[in-house]
Amino acid sequence: MGKKKKRSEAEEEIKANDIVNGDSHNKTNKKKNKKPKTDTAAVIPTVTVAIAGSIIHNAQSLELATRLAGQIARAVTIFRVDEVVVFDNNGESGSPEANNSDENESGAAFLIRILRYLETPQYLRKALFPKHNSLRFVGLLPPLDAPHHLRKHEWGAFREGVTLKERSPDGVGTLVDVGLSKNVVVDQVLDPGTRVTVAMGDSWNLDADISRQVVSSSKPREEAGMYWGYKVRYASNITSVMTECPYEGGYDHLIGTSEHGQIINSSDLNIPTFRHLLIAFGGLAGLEESIEEDHNLKAKNVREVFNIYLNTCPHQGSRTIRTEEAILISLQYFQEPINRALQRS
Ligand SMILES: C[S@@+](CC[C@H](N)C(=O)[O-])C[C@H]1O[C@@H](n2cnc3c(N)ncnc32)[C@H](O)[C@@H]1O
Repeated sequence: MGKKKKRSEAEEEIKANDIVNGDSHNKTNKKKNKKPKTDTAAVIPTVTVAIAGSIIHNAQSLELATRLAGQIARAVTIFRVDEVVVFDNNGESGSPEANNSDENESGAAFLIRILRYLETPQYLRKALFPKHNSLRFVGLLPPLDAPHHLRKHEWGAFREGVTLKERSPDGVGTLVDVGLSKNVVVDQVLDPGTRVTVAMGDSWNLDADISRQVVSSSKPREEAGMYWGYKVRYASNITSVMTECPYEGGYDHLIGTSEHGQIINSSDLNIPTFRHLLIAFGGLAGLEESIEEDHNLKAKNVREVFNIYLNTCPHQGSRTIRTEEAILISLQYFQEPINRALQRS
């Protein structure tokens, strides 16, 4: 892997980090300078899940829609998914950025907002997520309890933080709230309201004169094998799921899921060695309809779009498996084949 490639993967990583955060974060990062500079990231294999935002339309109330989004957030966290792409039906619902009013959101925009909110450590949410009607019932949801959601009394080699307005005492760095009893200083001048990953060191030490480093959000995974949450992005249709892939080289293995898919025992499924794997889940009418309705997509057959189209739950007793159920079932089904592919890489 050449140096150039590594640097651009790291840049993508920071870009993706921007996307995953709340609105205030995105706003502040539009300025040209003062973006966090992080060290270069090595390429680590990633798993992306693409989900039809239309599943939210079927929920009968805001509370039920919130619970549905919460189930998805937990499923992708349990199975250490790196990226969630919520795809729309030809831009029908738009992204949360496209509609910043407090009005009722639907479909993709709603799902994205809740997924991002839940992925953000609790102590950062107030700073990164302005009040919004879509967030009215998030308090009912079980927490993700992911490794980067550290409590106040816990020390970790890395912590997620948000940059503050106040300057550091020496004026050459930035104060960052990392959810501890004291703010820490990082060695860069950054815009306030920016979410960053801070290298904290191995032992509990909150001395004011220590200047810490902002690192890529993939660093905890590279260095310590820790799961560090998922990124969330919007795609206006299936085509954009693939064409707007933030990883260099795009997704190199694409899996579609459906009751109409091939039936293969999980222990016999051979996923080739991958850099960036994508697993797609459809809405009420399935991926076949999403492909049919995507005007940008030349291929109209699921088997031309995906490398493999799979039924992960044969012999189902209910006529339909709901998307949120299929995500849990399928991610369990794919766990061993993915592990085998990773061991080969
Ligand atoms: C309500 S189902 C759509 C039903 C549709 N006839 C289909 O293609 O499966 C919503 C989504 O759940 C997933 N799903 C449902 N049943 C599945 C199965 N047996 N195996 C794999 N995925 C399934 C698919 O991603 C599907 O698009």
